[in-house]
Amino acid sequence: MIDIHCHILPNIDDGPPNDFDFLMMANQAVKNGITHAYATPHHLNGLYFNPKEKILKLAVEYNTLLEMNNIPLQIHPGQELRIHREIFQSLERNEILTLDNKGKYLLLELPSREIPDNTQEVVYELLLKGLTPIFVHPERNRGFHEDHNLLFDLAQEGALFQLTAGSIVGQFGKKIQSFSEKIIEHKLAHFIATDAHNIHFRGSNLKEAYEWVTNKIGIHHTFYLKENTELLLTGKNVHIEQPVPFRKRFLRIF
Ligand SMILES: [Fe+2]
Repeated sequence: MIDIHCHILPNIDDGPPNDFDFLMMANQAVKNGITHAYATPHHLNGLYFNPKEKILKLAVEYNTLLEMNNIPLQIHPGQELRIHREIFQSLERNEILTLDNKGKYLLLELPSREIPDNTQEVVYELLLKGLTPIFVHPERNRGFHEDHNLLFDLAQEGALFQLTAGSIVGQFGKKIQSFSEKIIEHKLAHFIATDAHNIHFRGSNLKEAYEWVTNKIGIHHTFYLKENTELLLTGKNVHIEQPVPFRKRFLRIF
């Protein structure tokens, strides 16, 4: 399996603090069935500044460490970019890193409590530059909980969405689990990833999340979500199913 979002590189953000914990995380990922993991450190989230060159260099170094330890995991470079007023200046400074540095897909993070007013504008500008944003964990964003169709609107514009495996298996509670299920059913989820930060909380539970999707929603969704990670890894365009809009709340009384 391919994990497109995790914080496995040590001592760079709120991921593992040292090489030992990095190796523990890598072993846990392998045990879960993960063969490729995109290391996606936070960038511009107010706490961490991790520009492209730094991540590219570390990905090479830590792949060597994995080889030396005979751990069959391949690290791919990526970045989790926060929607920020300086996003386009950072892009001009060549600090933004797309997945595998292929100039195509980009992990984009929103603040957890809201959806900034300029979000659609940012998506539009990124798409014009040939970059497709993948919003991470929309199921945990309060703005999307309050208005589900903001997800639909952004998907219609061309944005993609990645759910967190822990949300799907219920690690963040019933409300987030149920919203994750709805997002998948409405064909608004394009990927599942661990967003693992350490071996304890949000560790590698990708296999369990796919199993949950298979049992609760249907195997077709599991194939779709898994295949998209493979397409992304091989540099192809991901499949985008036609999303279904959420019913307006007032219709639910009938
Ligand atoms: Fe993350």
